[in-house]
Amino acid sequence: MPRIAIIGGSGLYELLQNPTHTFVDTPFGKTPRIEIGKINDFEVAFLPRHSRPGSETVSHAIPPHKVNYRANIYGLMQLGVERILVSNAVGTLDPNLPPGNMCVVDQFLDMTKEEPYTFYDGDTTIELKDGRKVSGTVHIDVSQPFCPELRSVLLESASKTGVPVRDGGVYVRTSGPRFETPAEINAFRILGATVVGMTAAPEAVLARELELCYASISMSTNFAAGMQQKISHEEVGVIFGQNIENVKKILREAVHLIPKEKSCPCPLALAGATA
Ligand code: HPA
Repeated sequence: MPRIAIIGGSGLYELLQNPTHTFVDTPFGKTPRIEIGKINDFEVAFLPRHSRPGSETVSHAIPPHKVNYRANIYGLMQLGVERILVSNAVGTLDPNLPPGNMCVVDQFLDMTKEEPYTFYDGDTTIELKDGRKVSGTVHIDVSQPFCPELRSVLLESASKTGVPVRDGGVYVRTSGPRFETPAEINAFRILGATVVGMTAAPEAVLARELELCYASISMSTNFAAGMQQKISHEEVGVIFGQNIENVKKILREAVHLIPKEKSCPCPLALAGATA
């Protein structure tokens, strides 16, 4: 049973040694093809966030607003995963974090327009890995939206591998799939955003709702709208591809640094959260 999972996009596909793969059927739908393999002695699951659920072929077919975040996170829990490390591409609002640089964000601003992502819709009952059943309304605390222990692991790993990574930052999440307008970016800057992306906020919240640990390493692939001429998805892919080896190095080292026993508050996230 893999206790650690990595969620990522293109370029991370050859992270695991001797992988097999599976699909998980969840109450929310099927997951994409999840690889289970080794990073040295550790069994690790890899979920390609944008791949099509049920498809044997790994691809970038599902845009950010259509990713089945609930199936992905619940499916990882069903597999036995307790800790989730992710990588994502972001636009940078900070001239001191130019494309190619990375940060381990510690806060988010969710500026999406859809219904909020939650497992707890009021009349569903959610079964956790330890058999607990949770139903009704849940108001989860996100004072520390990313697991502090996994954040430290990512930072320690970056420092060990010699890859410069900034500690902290505010991730503003937009719905996509379009990029932002310069006016939106100016507004987000006033609100305190450091980077902008389309995926991390729902994943972080859903993981917390299941008491799973979650932390993200965000790679700046472009200056945010208005700070450069034009943003192209192609350019995002090129910059991500050029720096993906650094992300892989950090993730590979990170799995060795995760302490066996948790000392973060994540495992008790549901205490006092139900109405
Ligand atoms: N905006 C939103 N998401 C992104 C960006 C961006 O500029 N770059 C990479 N992902």
